[in-house]
Amino acid sequence: MRNLIEFLDLGLQPLANNYLSNNQKLKKEKKYRLKVLFNKKTKMVSIKNTFSSKIMFNNKYPYRSSMSLTMINSFKKLSLEIKKKYKPKRILEIGSNDGSFIKNFDKKRVVGIEPCSNIEKITKKKGFDTYAEYWTPHLAKKLHKKYSKIDLIYSANTITHIKNLDDVFKSILLILSKEGTLIIEDPSLLECLKNNTYDQFYNEHIYVFSLIALEKILIKYNLIIFKVENLEIHGGSTRYFIKRKDSKLRIDNSVKIQKRKEINFGLNKVSAYKLFAKRVLKNKKMLIKIFTKLKYRKKKIIGYGATAKSTTILNYCNIDNNYISYFLDTTEDKQKKLTPGTKIPIVKYHKKLLKNIDYIFLGAWNFKKEIFNKEKRFISRGGKFILHTPMPKII
Ligand code: TYD
Repeated sequence: MRNLIEFLDLGLQPLANNYLSNNQKLKKEKKYRLKVLFNKKTKMVSIKNTFSSKIMFNNKYPYRSSMSLTMINSFKKLSLEIKKKYKPKRILEIGSNDGSFIKNFDKKRVVGIEPCSNIEKITKKKGFDTYAEYWTPHLAKKLHKKYSKIDLIYSANTITHIKNLDDVFKSILLILSKEGTLIIEDPSLLECLKNNTYDQFYNEHIYVFSLIALEKILIKYNLIIFKVENLEIHGGSTRYFIKRKDSKLRIDNSVKIQKRKEINFGLNKVSAYKLFAKRVLKNKKMLIKIFTKLKYRKKKIIGYGATAKSTTILNYCNIDNNYISYFLDTTEDKQKKLTPGTKIPIVKYHKKLLKNIDYIFLGAWNFKKEIFNKEKRFISRGGKFILHTPMPKII
């Protein structure tokens, strides 16, 4: 326990994806203290208080990866690369969501694991072999019986959501072929600290990975990172290509380069995290100042993209319905609901609704490029966006 340093306290928070229906408006919400830890020994960054998977990932999960063109294109590009370079006979995706990745492959060759049954059934209906189950050794054994070994396993934005990493990698070892490749992709801790995107921390993101921390875990299972790619996805993600220790795949220079970047920034030392916490506090003060000024000037502000990430920002900075009239979002399951904790109504996206708006708080800042492209008219008539990263500003 002496190795655990608590460096950031983001206050009392609701479950980030727990959008409330109108009749839950007056009910007391489940809240937890969002504190973030750095382990001096393992170099892992994780949140202190966690919830069971059953509470977070169930048959009411609202997130859909297909809601963003950026995600769809990224999955398409990766699947082409996988087909060309790795030529896998069978592909397994852990956390297949609504099938945005697996749909790029022949149905006979892919298997999807998605514990949120409301989403899993979307792909099942289309004829894919999917399982509404958590990723466990039990499931890995079941799949092994059916398919024998799998030569490519992919998991995006999922492994960091599972507390028991030991179970995750043990299960992977049960099914990954000798020369097989495991590709995992998650928000990058380096980018999070560089850009002050403290909203990467919320109940579902139990860990935010760095290469140095992930490497230390993987070695216990004789797994080695042989290549890394940095992506713009989700505000800066890292894609790790992993192999078994005795596989013949060559180790790419990108691993050394990434490690150097992380060490140079200080991800191995407590001081970098303490400095980050100071910047986060400053970020909060500046964001509150922007909202207070605009409210005083009676400007109409709405939110764009009711993300899980923005739950952390809004609750940490106490920005509620007094500041933001409503959020626009394309996800059906979020519409006509209220944002967790701050109870801001979420409205179905329609371009028309931007007509008399002065300012938009960009909850989905991670899709800034895509959204700025979509809202050229709003921008050209003088509409402004409020962003919190790297420091709060109006653009
Ligand atoms: P996202 O940032 O992917 O995830 P998280 O909830 O994990 O922080 O969520 C993006 C949200 O923004 C999602 O609810 C869909 C919405 N969205 C729009 O409403 N319009 C858009 O053009 C885009 C790209 C996203």
